[in-house]
Amino acid sequence: RLVAFAAIQGAYNIVSKAEGKFKTAMDKYGANQPLAFPNTAYYLPVIYSVLGIKVEKLADAEQVLNRCKSLLPPHIKDKIYVPYLGHTLDAGMAAILAEEVAEAIRYVEDPDFYLPSEDCDVERGRIWLGAADDTVLRKRGIEFVDGRAPGFAAIVGAAPNPQIAKEIAEDYQKKNLYVFMCANQSGTTFSEQLIEAGVQIGWSTRLVPFGPDISAAVFALGFANRAAMAFGGVQPGDYATVLKYNKDRVFAFVNALGEVNAEWAANAAGAINWGFPTIADTDIPEILPTGVCTYEHVVSSVPYDKMTARSIEVRGLKLTVAEIPVPVAYGPAFEGERVRRDDVYLECGGGKTPCCELVQIADMNTIEDGRVEVIGPDIKDVKPGSRLPLAVTVQIGGRKMQEDYEPILERQIHHLVNYAQGLMHIGQRDIAWYRISKQAVDKGFTLEHIGKILHAKFHQDFGAIFDKCQVKIYTDEAKVNEIIPKAQAAYRVRDERIEGMTDEGTETYYSCTLCQSFAPTHVCVISPERTGLCGAYNWLDCKASFEINPTGPNQPVQKGETLDETLGNWKGVNDFVYKASRQSISSYNFYSLVFDPMTTCGCCECIAAVLPLCNGIMTVNRDYTGMTPTGMKFTTLAGVIGGGNVTPGFVGHSKFNVTQRKFVSGDGGIHRLVWMPKILKEEIRDRLEKRGQDIGIPNFVDMIATEENGVTEEEILAFLEKMGHPAVTMDPIL
Ligand code: SF4
Ligand code: NI
Ligand code: NI
Repeated sequence: RLVAFAAIQGAYNIVSKAEGKFKTAMDKYGANQPLAFPNTAYYLPVIYSVLGIKVEKLADAEQVLNRCKSLLPPHIKDKIYVPYLGHTLDAGMAAILAEEVAEAIRYVEDPDFYLPSEDCDVERGRIWLGAADDTVLRKRGIEFVDGRAPGFAAIVGAAPNPQIAKEIAEDYQKKNLYVFMCANQSGTTFSEQLIEAGVQIGWSTRLVPFGPDISAAVFALGFANRAAMAFGGVQPGDYATVLKYNKDRVFAFVNALGEVNAEWAANAAGAINWGFPTIADTDIPEILPTGVCTYEHVVSSVPYDKMTARSIEVRGLKLTVAEIPVPVAYGPAFEGERVRRDDVYLECGGGKTPCCELVQIADMNTIEDGRVEVIGPDIKDVKPGSRLPLAVTVQIGGRKMQEDYEPILERQIHHLVNYAQGLMHIGQRDIAWYRISKQAVDKGFTLEHIGKILHAKFHQDFGAIFDKCQVKIYTDEAKVNEIIPKAQAAYRVRDERIEGMTDEGTETYYSCTLCQSFAPTHVCVISPERTGLCGAYNWLDCKASFEINPTGPNQPVQKGETLDETLGNWKGVNDFVYKASRQSISSYNFYSLVFDPMTTCGCCECIAAVLPLCNGIMTVNRDYTGMTPTGMKFTTLAGVIGGGNVTPGFVGHSKFNVTQRKFVSGDGGIHRLVWMPKILKEEIRDRLEKRGQDIGIPNFVDMIATEENGVTEEEILAFLEKMGHPAVTMDPIL
């Protein structure tokens, strides 16, 4: 009863503070001052979802505050009020709505208080992220819907010390939960404790520092409600549905660390409207009588070491986290974590050392399931900051295993390795790049564990298609150099299996949405003559992947009506892309980079761009680190276009695609190709020569300029004219 009273008192305080802030702001900025969270179509999301009110300017907040006042139970001043469930819940809701107004006003008063990004700037001491913008919502909110993240733990206050904070956070990360952090306990915040304990915080590690005040709790609820509107189709103003959606679908709860004051209690009461219980570490009476809610105790107090387990239990999540036999934490929460240069213990690939990954079918009788061998020096044999060549080879055997499945398993290595805490993985095939951190090595991580991960996860995720999995990891330089050409030959065979099939002769294409965890609007649609831009998936791979996993990331797409033969535009494809990109992309062309090209994500092997002066295009591969004639290096280009958008003038594609018949055929085809790095040219030389013959220009490969001929359009143009390159006399490209 005492806490319920405190909650109502706290709600009174919060609403009156917000009113004060509102009046001051009205005097200072005027009624027409815009009031909004940055880059969002959901206005102030709790207010919009619960009340249906679109707050756009300061004056709009007045009606919200009036609603808050009417929600507060009336008799508190005389203390004759008898708290019961409805009153406490209403007071809590009033507090949350008022906090949203107050936080929005803070964006006006102190525009630099919150960072406009997904990650913290720890070096400059700027860590508070505030309201997530819609890009973050699309990328992260979808995980709440598709189950990659069951929900979140909202942590209020601070742990007794940084070590305990770290333990709590990592425990939730391992359970795939997000941790939303707000408020402080006598000036100490959980977020800063994590930084002190050396933990990376930000959206990419699922540890999100919203703000140092209790009012920042509203950002967590706003995020949940926007997810309900964006992905759950809940209509703004339909508060009953939005709250029920959260209660039933979002696994969330509050952990109050430290003394619970009246304002915290008000927020705890507010969260109950969402079905989110509070578990505190101090001894406080229950806000509500037992049995009123679904939970036995809506608010309970437990010691730290039991806190995470008890929270999960109270909210009733059935966790199916399988143990992976490695000494570091493992799960999707660690996928986005980076390993900075200073933290690297061992680095392999990434252009610094030779590296490749190869999954191949093997005779069941020649392999031993679960066997992992490291051939060459392991981590214990090298000093911190070392580099080694690396070849990760996996042998798979089983009655149902087919060669067609090899690339599908191989493509999994990327995220499976990334899931390990302290490991970073970029790329695939012979452009893979590994970083293993000192922290992981301190915990006992060795190269052998990469094999253990692959063995365990392949069985878990693909157990239905094979029986045995064995891993050999080579770091011996001579051995790696022997394996790489063999791996490249295997990649080539896979790539070439597709040859002879045409887009015209195929009615069904396949989608790939594997990369949406990084580029939320990105959808690859893969046809026989346009392989996936990462180079790892062609049409046959997608078909096989769909056979293995009919509800997985590769779905058949019926082309449907042809809308533009030349540019490669089909109604069925557009309809699919529109849905799969969550209504953000309504149409794209397969064969053009000038007109609405396909979306590009960060793992493309190459990026093509228009060179207007040369009347052609260039392409650059990831392995080339020099300047290109666009004035941008590969990394800059990838940063600009790799976020899953349609960027006319640029498109990501695979190396193999360069020599496919349909490559940019809508813009004139390979005849337009005027520049590429020498390493790429050499790598695909045989195929380029063959294409030259096909198009009746046998020496075409020699007409393509490289960095040796120049990296400015002027230099290249001179070369093209000298060589008689066809682009020079073609119709204008733009
Ligand atoms: Fe799939 Fe495209 Fe990502 Fe490759 S780049 S994994 S094809 S979504
Ligand atoms: Ni990792
Ligand atoms: Ni990608």
